[in-house]
Order: sequence, then structure tokens, then C-alpha cells
Amino acid sequence: MGYKVVVAGATGNVGREMLNILAEREFPADEVVALASRRSLGTEVSYGDKTLKCKDIEGFDFTGYDIALFAIGSDATKTYAPIAASQGCVVIDNSSLYRYDPGIPLIVPEVNADAVEDYRNKMIIANPNCSTAQMVVALKPLHDRARIKRVVVSTYQSVSGAGKEGMDELWNQTKGMYVPGQEVEPKKFQKQIAFNVIPQIDVFLDSGDTKEEWKMVAETKKILDPSIRVTATCVRVPVFVGHSEAINVETEDPGRGRGPDILRKSARFAGDRHATRRA
Ligand SMILES: NC(=O)c1ccc[n+]([C@@H]2O[C@H](COP(=O)([O-])OP(=O)(O)OC[C@H]3O[C@@H](n4cnc5c(N)ncnc54)[C@H](OP(=O)(O)O)[C@@H]3O)[C@@H](O)[C@H]2O)c1
Repeated sequence: MGYKVVVAGATGNVGREMLNILAEREFPADEVVALASRRSLGTEVSYGDKTLKCKDIEGFDFTGYDIALFAIGSDATKTYAPIAASQGCVVIDNSSLYRYDPGIPLIVPEVNADAVEDYRNKMIIANPNCSTAQMVVALKPLHDRARIKRVVVSTYQSVSGAGKEGMDELWNQTKGMYVPGQEVEPKKFQKQIAFNVIPQIDVFLDSGDTKEEWKMVAETKKILDPSIRVTATCVRVPVFVGHSEAINVETEDPGRGRGPDILRKSARFAGDRHATRRA
């Protein structure tokens, strides 16, 4: 018998990509339900060659569902994740709401799958920031082999990370550059993103870091090893989908980190398929 799965945030960038991947990988689901806000009631989303009609998450009864994949932002998650969990459905959450809760496992399956057992504490599993997730997958084999002491990472993050409104802003602002009278003022981003790079993602903290940078530090420590020192600089670039990162590491045993295999796997990579193409 297969699983009964809920995708909450099914109209968003992340939710649509979740549905694509569930179908693409032939996840053994007997039933998949698409949820979003009341605004999207009845909106059709694709699930493989099927079409699902979105239901309103408010009032939805999660009883009998095995897994709920949440991608609805922290505020709405705060309301609905505890309801799903209390009704016996395991929540796998993409927002930052639960990531730093010591009682909730923060999981990247390729890195710390064993920690998932702690889901029983609150029936919730958190999922890291997209830039952290792809980085720790690359760092894990290097850490296992040569013990990483320090990481200095610079990111080049696409607008998909700011949701569908972020992608629309880049699209419309780029068009507006060429059509007099159709200029688009920054709304989702702090400055113009078309033909620009913005060295700020999320808000600035008192430390001078942005919250995105802080997240990369805190999450890498929680997932990989709290003793690793991490410095992050996060930059938004005018690319629709796919984050790139440049990572420098200092290891305890530099000789062991230099194997060609490890370098090939860990040193350079780009592209994150957390978000879908513009629909
Ligand atoms: N971990 C990662 O790799 C990663 C990467 C990117 C984003 N995220 C996180 O995933 C979440 C979604 O991001 P996104 O890029 O998909 O955003 P998005 O494209 O803006 O989509 C937001 C989704 O949330 C739904 N939603 C918003 N408010 C809601 C409410 N009050 N009740 C029910 N549904 C609501 C929207 O439904 P409507 O269409 O009905 O408004 C839509 O389906 C955010 O928390 C984001 O931080 C995580």
C-alpha cells in the first residue's frame, strides 16, 4: 500500500516542484492532495500527467495522511503544521520556522539521514535553506575524509529563492528596461534586480550579517558539525533558477582532502533544483 501525501503550497515555486519530483521519481503515493490558501481554491496544478485541484488548507483534515510537505512560508506554517502533526501526519517543512528548534531534526538525507528518527518528538522534520542544503551535500564527503575546520562560502542566488513574486519581478523589470513607460520599481527586492546584483538576502542583523548568511552558518553547524567555523556572504543575482556557490574550506588534514575524487565531488558545483521554471 502506498502513502497518502499532502503538498501544502502547491501553487508556489517549491510546491509545484515537489509535485513534479513526486511524479518523476514515482514516489509510492496512493493519494496526493494539493493545498494552498483560499485564494487558490480550485486552481489546477500538475502532478505527472494528472491535474489536481487545489483545496483550501484552512479546515483541511490531515487525519489519515502519512506525510505533509509544507512550502507555505513561516507564518502560515506556524498555524497549520501543529494541526497536521496533532492529527498524526508527519510534516516535512521547508520554511525556516522549525530549523533551529533543538527538538526538531534538520535533515539533508545525503548528510544526516540518521537524525530523522527524532521526528517522533513533534511529528515535524525541518528542511534547510536551499543554499545550505546544496553546500552540505558537497562538504560531507570532504568532512568525512579530512575533517573540515573552516568554511568560507559566497553564494550567487537566483530569484526563484524569493518565490514566484521574485521571479515575476525579474521578468517584468527586465522587460520594462526596454519599454518606456513600463519600468517596474523594486518591490520584492531591496533594489533593482534586473541587470544588477544585490548583496543582501533577507534582513540585516545587528551583527552586520544578513539573516540568510546567519542561516547558512547555524544550519551547517546543526546538520554537519557544530565545531565547524562558517563565514557566508549571500548575494542575489539576476538569474531565474539555480543557486551557485564558491566554497573554500580549511581542513585538519589537508593531504587527505586533496584526492581528485573528493575535489571533483566537492569543490565546484552549481544549480539547485529547489525551484521550478517560471510557469
Ligand atoms: N528549503 C528550501 O530549499 C526552500 C527554497 C525556497 C523556498 N523555501 C521556502 O518554501 C516556502 C515557499 O516558497 P516558494 O518559493 O514556493 O514561495 P511562493 O512561490 O511565493 O509560494 C508560496 C505558496 O505558499 C502558499 N501560501 C502563502 N500563504 C498561505 C497561507 N496563509 N495559507 C496557505 N497557503 C499559503 C501560496 O498559496 P497561494 O498561491 O494560494 O497564495 C503558495 O502556494 C517558503 O517558506 C520559503 O522560504 C524553501
